[in-house]
Amino acid sequence: MKTRTNQMSRRDLLKTGAAVSAAALASARSRAFAAGSDKIGVALIGCGSRGTTDALDCLKSDPAAEIVAMADIFQDRVDSSLVQIKKQFAGKLKVTPETTFLGFDAYKKVIAMNEVDIVMLTTPPAFRPQMVRAALEAGKHIFMEKPGAVDPVGVRSLMASAELADNKRLSIVVGTQQRWQPQYLELIGRIHDGRLGDIVGGQSYWNWGHAKWHFEQRKPEWSDMEWQIRCWPYFVWLSGDHIVEQHLHNMDVINWAIGSPPVQCLAVGGRQARTGPEFGNIYDHFTAEYEYPNGIRVMSMCSQIEGSTPRVGERVLCTKGATNTTRADGYIEDVKGRKVFTYSDPIHSGEVAQFVNLIKSIRDREPINECRRLAESTLTVILGRMSAYTGRALKYDWALKASKLDLSPAKYELGKMPVRAVAVPGKVQLI
Ligand SMILES: NC(=O)c1ccc[n+]([C@@H]2O[C@H](COP(=O)([O-])OP(=O)(O)OC[C@H]3O[C@@H](n4cnc5c(N)ncnc54)[C@H](O)[C@@H]3O)[C@@H](O)[C@H]2O)c1
Repeated sequence: MKTRTNQMSRRDLLKTGAAVSAAALASARSRAFAAGSDKIGVALIGCGSRGTTDALDCLKSDPAAEIVAMADIFQDRVDSSLVQIKKQFAGKLKVTPETTFLGFDAYKKVIAMNEVDIVMLTTPPAFRPQMVRAALEAGKHIFMEKPGAVDPVGVRSLMASAELADNKRLSIVVGTQQRWQPQYLELIGRIHDGRLGDIVGGQSYWNWGHAKWHFEQRKPEWSDMEWQIRCWPYFVWLSGDHIVEQHLHNMDVINWAIGSPPVQCLAVGGRQARTGPEFGNIYDHFTAEYEYPNGIRVMSMCSQIEGSTPRVGERVLCTKGATNTTRADGYIEDVKGRKVFTYSDPIHSGEVAQFVNLIKSIRDREPINECRRLAESTLTVILGRMSAYTGRALKYDWALKASKLDLSPAKYELGKMPVRAVAVPGKVQLI
């Protein structure tokens, strides 16, 4: 897999987000956006915390972008998102009660709107494959958050969508923002241009040091489904477990550096510190060994345990040194472990740059399609979860081509939804 990091030059990407934005706009302004209109209609599907941040970043990225429609399951989520967007971009918020939709089918109504050019898919990942497909079928460009799916059936759907996007020349940009961060581009670039020799191994970590994210005590009036959707990270069918939901970022960097998804994986994990039923059915720690082509082995660790040592980042070991990357810095060690290079230019988060590039790709009619690589990184971490849950070493190709695991519920409605049992290795059936 060769990375399609960008449509802009690498030099542009190494500048700050604001500078990137200015550079992109200068060339973009010379063209009309789409037949006769210079406005870019954006719809937000999933109006929670990340969706709202993404909407703000999208509006920051381009003067022509406007939020024209919203979809969610819950009115309170739409309301709080509207308040936050209005504080910064009242003039670019064109959402009306007529363009606000609620419920499991709300996304279809937003996607059908003519005024919508880009849909932002920022719900929990369980819904992503079906929404990506529907948006592409309706001819919309997409920004989607990671992960792309929670099971192999969803990943296969994403792979097919990647092809559909290519065929329809539609852009898909995904929320793996490290791929647009200057220190990552510089260090992974040095691996790719051969300065560090051959890759021989690596480590990747999302040991968080916390246990609660989107945790709310269940309210008596919430149905099972409402509780699970409001506290979605704790339910495997919605989040894929934290190895999928959070650790995807690190394994995406490893796949990027190596230029391929893994061949196989052997993982262990469990649920030791965060055990109450209020925490659904996910694990609180995983360790996995991923084997890549050419015998490259990568050790991966992720945990969500209060009071444990946080470590989030990646290390890629090469014959002439090792890269060390986090969202805050990046440096290279030589083979003796001495720091020989530290990235010292300004760093930006990559979060505005991803929208600058999405919109530029649409204006220039040179689509960016990051769907396939998100599908690969998503399957990488799903493989880790499946291996830990079953206790078995698993091959990537088997998961991609043969696994029938489909975690979606029998029906989508705010009603009864029993919580599936926590996985017990050695007992869970491999599907
Ligand atoms: N790139 C990053 O660094 C980053 C950071 C945080 C979250 N994320 C990702 O963003 C996504 C959303 O996370 P969040 O923190 O915003 O969660 P959230 O719970 O705050 O928001 C999700 C929203 O989606 C809505 N929703 C759920 N199911 C829906 C459906 N079927 N149709 C329409 N709306 C639906 C929920 O009601 C909620 O408002 C996740 O995939 C998460 O992994 C990415």
